[in-house]
Amino acid sequence: IKNIGVLCSGGDSPGMNCAIRAVVRTAIGEGLGVYGIQKGYEGLLENNIRELNVSSVGNILQHGGTILQTSRSKEFRTPEGRKKAADILKKRQIDALIVIGGDGSFNGAMALHQEHGIVVVGIPGTIDNDISGTDYTIGFDTAVQNAVEAVDKIRDTANSHARTFIVEVMGRKSPAIALKVGICTGAENVVLPTATIDYQKIAGDIDRGIKRGKTSSIIIAAEGEEAGIGYTIQKNLKDQFHLDAHVCILGHIQRGGNPTPTDRLIASQMGHSAVKAITSGQNASATVYVNGKVSLAPLADCLRKKNEFDVSEVELLTSLSI
Ligand code: F6P
Repeated sequence: IKNIGVLCSGGDSPGMNCAIRAVVRTAIGEGLGVYGIQKGYEGLLENNIRELNVSSVGNILQHGGTILQTSRSKEFRTPEGRKKAADILKKRQIDALIVIGGDGSFNGAMALHQEHGIVVVGIPGTIDNDISGTDYTIGFDTAVQNAVEAVDKIRDTANSHARTFIVEVMGRKSPAIALKVGICTGAENVVLPTATIDYQKIAGDIDRGIKRGKTSSIIIAAEGEEAGIGYTIQKNLKDQFHLDAHVCILGHIQRGGNPTPTDRLIASQMGHSAVKAITSGQNASATVYVNGKVSLAPLADCLRKKNEFDVSEVELLTSLSI
């Protein structure tokens, strides 16, 4: 293998730049040429590719987003699209591709490998922390940090006005952000994406809190399939229990900003390890974080979404939010 390509795909996540930097510098150290593919699979299909050098990735690790930009490509999901992409890579003599993204991006990489023999390595990058085979995905810690800071601010004003707030966090069907933010902000309730919402319990908890002198209540709601669930919860609390609550949808603010040291470190380790996987002859693999360490796993282990949660986190939350 002489040349490798690197791209980001799907929603961006803070720390992607650290992974790109690690890929580029490790590859150059290993004597490989390294090409940055702009705007994900969409950019690959447009031949939007440039060679990267040591300086191309200077001064980027502290910034959120991704210097390579990203996209969700419909065309690449078709066999014809993948054939076109493989032809472009072959013509440019790019023998291996590192894909930083979520499960959808990994599925695309696997198809490219199976249909066209391209060497692929996946690096899990999504704030949702919902990829099977790895305990961690790049960006999760920063997203949680962003959300916790926002909820702390909401708590200040909620206390001043004795209000209830429903704060909706990202993660699609993943409960990971909601649970961690709920624990770290002392939320009175967390609504998980898979559970049926027990309005009676939420209203009861708020009432009990008021009776014992609490001056505010925070309900963290996981967005679920699509954003806006916070308003449904608000309406039901009003209609069923005459309870007034304000809604705050944190949205994309969670995905931006400087990556935390945890994200910088894991992303750097994963970027480095992805290149080493290629130079040591591995194929169709992914960098994973298991038992506190970065290692390699078959890409096939990481192709599913993982929406289950740690029951002990729910127990912790329930026992502390009384
Ligand atoms: O998958 C990452 C994520 O931020 C989800 O948490 C969220 O539901 C989705 O992307 C939002 O996607 P978009 O940025 O395309 O609106």
